[in-house]
Amino acid sequence: MIRDYQAPLLAKEEVSPGIWRLSLECPPIAREARPGNFVLLKAVSSSAPLLRRPLGVLETDAEKGTFGVLFRVVGAGTELLSGMAPGQILSVRGPVGGQFGPFEHGRVWAVAGTLGVVPLLFLRQARGAFDKLFLGVGNAGWRPFAEWVRARAPEMELFSDDGSLGKKGFAIDGLKDQALEDVSLAVCGPNPMMKALYGQYGARCADIQVSLERRMGCGMGGCFGCVVDTETGRRRVCIDGPVFQAREVKWDELHL
Ligand SMILES: Cc1cc2nc3c(=O)[nH]c(=O)nc-3n(C[C@H](O)[C@H](O)[C@H](O)COP(=O)(O)OP(=O)(O)OC[C@H]3O[C@@H](n4cnc5c(N)ncnc54)[C@H](O)[C@@H]3O)c2cc1C
Ligand code: FES
Repeated sequence: MIRDYQAPLLAKEEVSPGIWRLSLECPPIAREARPGNFVLLKAVSSSAPLLRRPLGVLETDAEKGTFGVLFRVVGAGTELLSGMAPGQILSVRGPVGGQFGPFEHGRVWAVAGTLGVVPLLFLRQARGAFDKLFLGVGNAGWRPFAEWVRARAPEMELFSDDGSLGKKGFAIDGLKDQALEDVSLAVCGPNPMMKALYGQYGARCADIQVSLERRMGCGMGGCFGCVVDTETGRRRVCIDGPVFQAREVKWDELHL
């Protein structure tokens, strides 16, 4: 059930320049969040309602009543969150959205574009190591982030746009020449990456679950600010998604 909570920030860590992991104490989120769910976070000290920002749940510890998020600073909201100090209180709305799974096949592969790895690492916490996990990043500047991911998921195969880390190419290139008929894919990254993945591999893989990106307003289904066109009509990414079957999404109408 989506609720608003006040959660103390327990710890923060800059895992890579401009990429922060926050650990928060919030027993209901720690208990109820499932892989694919997200939260809307806001610094309680900020009165600007527009600074409530959606972030995927990275991990939970139900016994300790804690959960974690990992985000990249890209604008005012994430800048504000990155500046918070342990002990300060955040407003947390969640857990929001549906989850990855159930999967049609026992073999589940993950495909992530940079920070899209967040819900996939949570899925890994719940299911165990992936048969394959492909991560795509831009260039060598992403090395600390990639190493941080590899420490958590040693099965990760790395791709970079310019070839300076791992193999040259995109995360979706990991699927080339692979037999995908009995594989389920869990995918999260920029919408153009997921559109390209579906275009190239959709005919060979029947179970492609994508977590869509959309700007969010309320995160509770009320504002219709996050609507996307699907084969079953207009759907709200916040509560009908963010995870959809790729074949349901009208990719040509999705504003990327
Ligand atoms: C369901 C969901 C889960 C997400 N999980 C994570 C996560 O785990 N880690 C993470 O780093 N980011 C995640 N994002 C993206 C994150 O919400 C945005 O980066 C953040 O809201 C930007 O806020 P800002 O105020 O810092 O930047 P703004 O000033 O609002 O925007 C800066 C830039 O970020 C883009 N942006 C803003 N909001 C979104 C959005 N909702 N989706 C995509 N791009 C956006 C803008 O177009 C702009 O280019 C997620 C987004 C969604 C919808
Ligand atoms: S964010 Fe308001 S309906 Fe989805």
